[in-house]
Amino acid sequence: MAARKQSTKRKQPSKTKRGTSRKSSSGRSARQPSDALALLRADHQAVQQLFQQFEKTRSEDRKAALAEQICNELTVHAQIEEEIFYPAVREAIREEDLIDEATVEHQSAKDLIAQIESGGPQGELFDAKVKVLGEYVNHHVREEQNEMFPQVRKTKLDLKELGQRLQQRKMELMEGGAGTESSSSSALTGSRRKNQAAKTTKHRQKSEGIVAAITRGIGLARE
Ligand SMILES: [Fe+2]
Ligand SMILES: [Fe+2]
Repeated sequence: MAARKQSTKRKQPSKTKRGTSRKSSSGRSARQPSDALALLRADHQAVQQLFQQFEKTRSEDRKAALAEQICNELTVHAQIEEEIFYPAVREAIREEDLIDEATVEHQSAKDLIAQIESGGPQGELFDAKVKVLGEYVNHHVREEQNEMFPQVRKTKLDLKELGQRLQQRKMELMEGGAGTESSSSSALTGSRRKNQAAKTTKHRQKSEGIVAAITRGIGLARE
């Protein structure tokens, strides 16, 4: 019930201009999320709205822009979950299956994202691929929000602190990392992107507090 309450609170910021501008997403990031689950729910809602817009539009240019935005948003979202959220949850709920399945679903989505980005709007089956990606995402979001998040809410995880870390990492990625220009297909291939993330994280650890660095290191090690 608490999760539902948080979700309602976060609906408003997610309805900002995320659907039309990557920078607006970054701008939204300036506002602190109430907690990790609220942040992730807001991300889910925002990208689902983008898929809805894609379905409605007839403009090829608009479709191309939306698809790019969708791929960027999903790439950043998946990365912060894999680097920070999933490792913390795996430790807290001790139910490996949920996280394992979510990770596999991420990989399926990434594969499709890579196809969409490498082929571009003129690529084969572009519309169909974006639509199927939306279906993947809807399924994945339902599992996270209906199965994983309720379990997370019952743990002693500090969701506010976790939310701050997610937000910080998200801002980094939106402003210059994997979620922006690097949304080329090469940047989306799992191992290469993980290596990039690892380098970035190591660099960050030098300037962060010890607690944050250790926590981040644990998350990375579990990836
Ligand atoms: Fe998610
Ligand atoms: Fe996810």
